[in-house]
Parts: sequence; structure tokens; C-alpha cells
Amino acid sequence: MPLVSPKEMFAKAYAGGYAIGAFNVNNMEIIQGIMAAGVQERSPLILQVSAGARKYAGQNYIIKLMEAALMDTDLPVVLHLDHGQNFEICKQVIDGGFTSVMIDGSHLPYEENIALTREVVACAHPKGVWVEAELGRLAGVEDEVSSEHSIYTDPAQAVDFVKRTGCDSLAIAIGTSHGACKFKGEPKLDLDRLHTITGLLPQYPLVLHGASSVPQEFVEMANAYGGEIAGARGVPESMLRQAAASGVCKINIDTDIRLAMTATIRKHFHDKPADFDPRAYLTPARDAVKNMVSHKIKNVLGCSGKA
Ligand code: G3H
Ligand code: 13P
Ligand code: ZN
Repeated sequence: MPLVSPKEMFAKAYAGGYAIGAFNVNNMEIIQGIMAAGVQERSPLILQVSAGARKYAGQNYIIKLMEAALMDTDLPVVLHLDHGQNFEICKQVIDGGFTSVMIDGSHLPYEENIALTREVVACAHPKGVWVEAELGRLAGVEDEVSSEHSIYTDPAQAVDFVKRTGCDSLAIAIGTSHGACKFKGEPKLDLDRLHTITGLLPQYPLVLHGASSVPQEFVEMANAYGGEIAGARGVPESMLRQAAASGVCKINIDTDIRLAMTATIRKHFHDKPADFDPRAYLTPARDAVKNMVSHKIKNVLGCSGKA
């Protein structure tokens, strides 16, 4: 089955009160782990590629790995550009066959974000490519751009932004952030703000970045075997479920994949110090990705059986 647009996926998710997981991919094992989970759960999937991932693996490798992944399945799968920083990168992935792009002008002044997003929409829509944009700013690090404080999305501005840009989905800032250390104290999301935005933009798909839940079992496992991951705290799964039921159709997860793989590999090296065949440690790492993604699909996103 060829790659699909998120359009139908999101319409069904919105109506059903669930969300689709958008999982970051960098290499073959991550793609295989996510795909295996999707097949097991009969779940639609979004696989997304950051600029860093594109630099690491190369666009052609990612596209060919995705072609291979889709050969044996009829699952609906979207290939999405995560945090596209400029028009050129969006155009390159559109030309390469991605079915969805994010143009991230969230760091720009409002009118410049609008102008850039409009430019990408004008390039993407004639080719049937979906466009996600971002309004507001998340704290944390995204593709080497680091911002210490978040700026929550203004609901009235979100309406104006969507109307003037024609973007298909909107990433909003309501208290999530990228990386493993999302909250210093009690985790808190501004769900009232989310409900206000949903009320002003009915039926419109919203996106939550920085939505890893940072399972403590992985943090503890990594640290028990030599890791030094301090202050790790994610978004509680119950809050993600609430967001999924309130207009958030796409939930981005990268950090949890990194933690699952790294904790598993650290343990493997501890338990079997004589191993040096990469297949020996990448096999359990890939299984850990699969199990973590299956758990998300089943227990957090609610999209099991929705393919
Ligand atoms: O938005 C951030 C994602 O986790 C991608 O991270 O730029 O290090 O690949 P990366
Ligand atoms: P996490 O760091 O919470 O996994 O967020 C990933 C993300 O938003 C990718 O765009
Ligand atoms: Zn993000």
C-alpha cells in the first residue's frame, strides 16, 4: 500500500475521540519496531523525520526504508517532515514523496510565520500534501533551536492563523516541551486553553508536540546500567488521553523511543559484556520500540483496530 495523506486518518480520529501517534524515525530498527507495533495493533501510523534525522540517515535511505516497510502491509501510513525550518526543506521532501510536512515558523514574528506557512501551503496543496504549522512556542530543544520558556498559543490568534494560512493542522503550545525533562514540579497542561481552541476551531485537527510520557521504568533501567539521565519527567498518560479526546489528532513521540532503545542496549551490554555483534543488541532494542509503541497505541492514543 502506498503512503497516504493524514486527511482521512484525522477525520476519523477527530470523530472517534482518539489520536494517531507520530513517531520519529532515524534508522531501520526504529522503523521496523514501529511498523511491527502498527501491524500487531491494526493501527494507522505517522512516521516522521526531523532535519537531524534527514542529515543522519539521508532522505533517500529513509524513503527506501519506508518503501520496504510498506511492501508487506496494507496499513495506512503517513510519511511526515517534522519541524521543517524553511521552504526549501519542505519542497525537497514534497518532491521526494512525503505525504505531509510541518513548516515550523513558530520562532518567527506572527506575520512572518503566516507568510512562510502560506508559501509552503501553496507548494504542497497542488500535490495533495498535508501541511502542519505551529503557533506558540514550546520550551526545550528542537533541532538545535533551544528556547527556555514556552509561549502558549493564543486561541483567537490560532483562528486567524488557520484562516489566513490555509494550513491543514496546527501544533499548539499548552505546556508540553521536547526532551526528557518536561516539568520541574507537578506536570501540568493548560487543558482549558485546549478546550477553548477546540471550541473556536471545531473539527479542526490539532497537534501536540513534546508528548512523550518518559516512562520511569526506562529511565531507571538506563541509570541502573551506567546512564546519567537526571530530572526526567514526561506528560502523564492520563493527560494525553484527555488531549486525544479533545481535538488533538496527532501526538508526537520521540524521546520515549530513544529511552526504550538506550535503556535496553545499556542493559544488554551489562548482562552480556562479551557481545559485540550489533544484531545481538539491536534485536532487543527493536523489540523494546515495538512494545513501547504498542502500549501507546493501545492504552494512550486509543487507535488500536482503527486501520
Ligand atoms: O522535535 C524534536 C524531535 O525529537 C527531533 O529531534 O532533531 O534531534 O532529531 P532531533
Ligand atoms: P518528545 O521529545 O516529547 O518525544 O517530542 C517529540 C516531538 O515533538 C517531535 O516533534
Ligand atoms: Zn516537535
